[in-house]
Amino acid sequence: MGHDRYIGGLRKLVETVREASGGRTKLFIQIIDFLAIRRRPTKENFFGRYLELDVAYRRRLGELLQDSTWECAEDQAIRERMLSLSEEQIAQLLRPRDLESYRFGYRERVTDLDRPHIRDLPAALPGLFADAAQRCAEAGFDGVELHFAHAYTMASFLSALNTRQDGYGGPRENRVRLPLEVYAAVRQKLPSSLVLGCRFLGDEVIGGGNRIEDAVYFGVAFAKAGFDYLSISKGGKFEDAKQPKVGAAAYPYTGPSGHECMPTTHIGPPGPFGRNVPLAAAIRRAVREAGFSSLVVTSGGISSFWQAEEILRRGEADLIGAARQSLADPDWFKKIRLGLGDQVRRCLFTNYCEGLDQAHKPVTCQLWDRLQLPDDGEIVRTADGRRWTAPAWRSNLANS
Ligand SMILES: Cc1cc2nc3c(=O)[nH]c(=O)nc-3n(C[C@H](O)[C@H](O)[C@H](O)COP(=O)(O)O)c2cc1C
Ligand code: SF4
Repeated sequence: MGHDRYIGGLRKLVETVREASGGRTKLFIQIIDFLAIRRRPTKENFFGRYLELDVAYRRRLGELLQDSTWECAEDQAIRERMLSLSEEQIAQLLRPRDLESYRFGYRERVTDLDRPHIRDLPAALPGLFADAAQRCAEAGFDGVELHFAHAYTMASFLSALNTRQDGYGGPRENRVRLPLEVYAAVRQKLPSSLVLGCRFLGDEVIGGGNRIEDAVYFGVAFAKAGFDYLSISKGGKFEDAKQPKVGAAAYPYTGPSGHECMPTTHIGPPGPFGRNVPLAAAIRRAVREAGFSSLVVTSGGISSFWQAEEILRRGEADLIGAARQSLADPDWFKKIRLGLGDQVRRCLFTNYCEGLDQAHKPVTCQLWDRLQLPDDGEIVRTADGRRWTAPAWRSNLANS
């Protein structure tokens, strides 16, 4: 939603869904801001081009090699010498941030106040989010969700790792300041007919990051500000992501926090099913106790009617989100409504789909993407031959 040129295509999407569902399906869209991340460089590129040589690095190289002549050597000679260092020596030479860029690829942080565009984020982001929200309204969406979760910019402002000294970092009330300013700017521009929610983390699942106590504080602040709903997610951070291969970028769903975000059957006790519900429940309780009515959404391993109903009945959430189950069987709601729950194609929680997303490939489900059906007709397939959409479900009762 970063530019007007996307409005036409998105309007078509909205109209298509509206027509196909007879207006029953409501379409919401997430607005996301993210900071720059680069691919992991080759050793040659890192030392040949990316590393900024300064006086300190000349001194550090001299100390490492116990040869002070490096302090006044030519740049090219220094770069070539650095290139021949062992990994152990590189770990001693580089400052922590540069070592991270060497091993993982360069990644911007909200705390990089020496960079003007990062310093000025609090001035820029409310307007950018508000303009994006206006485009969503023009495209015809029913609701807008501000993405304050996972590895995105706004989540980094909320994070306990945000130590900005400009009033937008440090204590919780400062960390929540920009998200609230973004909310206010969006609310002002968004037509009142649209729903406005946000997604944020009940737990960042990283060392020194936010825990449920922080999330409860933010939830109450968001509800007080007037968000219509709060969608609670978990983890999905860069800080514990696996080292990418050379030439690939770090991906925030590859470490323990990422596994919590999209839990598989290998996640360990108590398994993936409804794993994040206690986070949503704690936030909802605090929001209600504070006298606010924003709805709370929970998601994560919810794939059956009874599980969803029980969560709602116990008052742990007001709405259920189901990403993978809805990909595994886009008709599962309909089947349940018709009393045909035994026909639901249940998600296996293996994250085959997430692997495709990580590889920037069209996301499909292993349960249906290789199926060939006699009545397939002219279906769209991916370049590697997978069907792009789930096979149509036909039941004698489907239209009743
Ligand atoms: C392929 C894939 C893409 C996803 N993309 C997004 C996204 O764009 N925004 C988001 O907030 N969550 C995204 N998620 C996370 C889901 O919204 C959800 O939080 C997570 O999968 C756990 O819920 P589930 O068990 O119902 O899938 C994605 C998940 C998958 C599997
Ligand atoms: S590929 Fe299909 S079955 Fe596997 S986790 Fe994704 S949605 Fe579930």
